Amino acid sequence: MNKNIAIVGATGAVGTLVRELLVERNFPYGEIRFLASEKSAGKELEFDGRMVTVELLCPTAFDGIDIAIGSTPDDVAREFTPWAVQAGAVVVDESAAHRMLPEVPLVVPEVNPGAIAEHQGIIASPNCSTTQMVLAMKPIHDVSPIRRVVVTTYQATSGAGVQGSADLENGTRAALEEAEWEGGVFQHPIAFNVIPQIGSVQENGYTSEEMKMVLETRKIFADDAIEVCPTCVRVPVRNCHSESILLETDHPITPQQAREVFAAAPGIQVMDDPGDGIYPMPLNCDDLDDVFVGRIRRDLSCKNSLAFWCVSDNLRKGAATNAVQIAELLASSEFSKCRSSN
Ligand SMILES: NC(=O)c1ccc[n+]([C@@H]2O[C@H](COP(=O)([O-])OP(=O)(O)OC[C@H]3O[C@@H](n4cnc5c(N)ncnc54)[C@H](OP(=O)(O)O)[C@@H]3O)[C@@H](O)[C@H]2O)c1
Repeated sequence: MNKNIAIVGATGAVGTLVRELLVERNFPYGEIRFLASEKSAGKELEFDGRMVTVELLCPTAFDGIDIAIGSTPDDVAREFTPWAVQAGAVVVDESAAHRMLPEVPLVVPEVNPGAIAEHQGIIASPNCSTTQMVLAMKPIHDVSPIRRVVVTTYQATSGAGVQGSADLENGTRAALEEAEWEGGVFQHPIAFNVIPQIGSVQENGYTSEEMKMVLETRKIFADDAIEVCPTCVRVPVRNCHSESILLETDHPITPQQAREVFAAAPGIQVMDDPGDGIYPMPLNCDDLDDVFVGRIRRDLSCKNSLAFWCVSDNLRKGAATNAVQIAELLASSEFSKCRSSN
């Protein structure tokens, strides 16, 4: 049965890809509505061979909508979700606004699809760095429970939206031309630099982005005993987040065993022949939906732990693809708790 869809934040980095994915994946849509701020209301955007006018996000914008896919800043998500739920829509939200609320399932379809059934109108999609990490953790966790994760991220500028991408390009141009540049969304110039801070610094010394990786991982696995020690770093890469991950498990897992379970897992591709220079990188994982793993090796300092490198397109699996997959499950008969149209 077709669903009436609203894309909230349809003009942003994630919203743009959600529009493309609905067509690319043949999503069973009925009516389609694009919502954004006053800045974009009235703009015409191409969708599935026709033009659709962007409408202003307002309390009545969700009349007749079945599923609203939200890709807006947190404060905007907090404001619009009650309007959508009141109108009878189910919200699939990419922002951090609702992720840790107990009544809101936090879902990666390859990891915890069953959580969708518990929704009360809102389903959250995790932070992009969490999504690729938990997807890579899942097949290992199934073989030998994970006790501890040490992760360092190398996060692309597109993770900070349209403005983040513009900052990399404008800042790089200004640096090469030795021109003045006022700076943008990052705390420091990102061109020719790496910034070991994403989000605000908390009392415990970790950043808000790092604490998302700790808390969201535990919620997705429904296991508060999993210890996570993250360091999140912004790097001058256009798109795709990379992560150096070390997993400490109950029983030792050999690199060969890990390669086999990764290869058999949905949503994961193994690229692991470092002697021939074969491993995932932002440039060979860009615009792809899977999570890529490589450099799989034993931790020389601990027999129960495994080290590997993991790359994924933060705009696709880290955001838009994950949300559209959740919407697909909602639209399927299995989870058809939302209103249906013909
Ligand atoms: N980028 C990623 O890799 C990524 C990954 C996972 C999750 N997320 C999350 O996804 C959300 C969107 O991120 P993004 O990267 O797509 O950001 P973005 O490129 O800055 O886009 C933001 C979108 O929100 C809309 N918006 C802003 N203020 C609004 C308002 N007052 N009323 C209505 N619409 C408004 C913007 O519309 P206008 O064009 O009208 O301003 C735009 O469409 C954020 O919560 C982010 O944390 C992002």
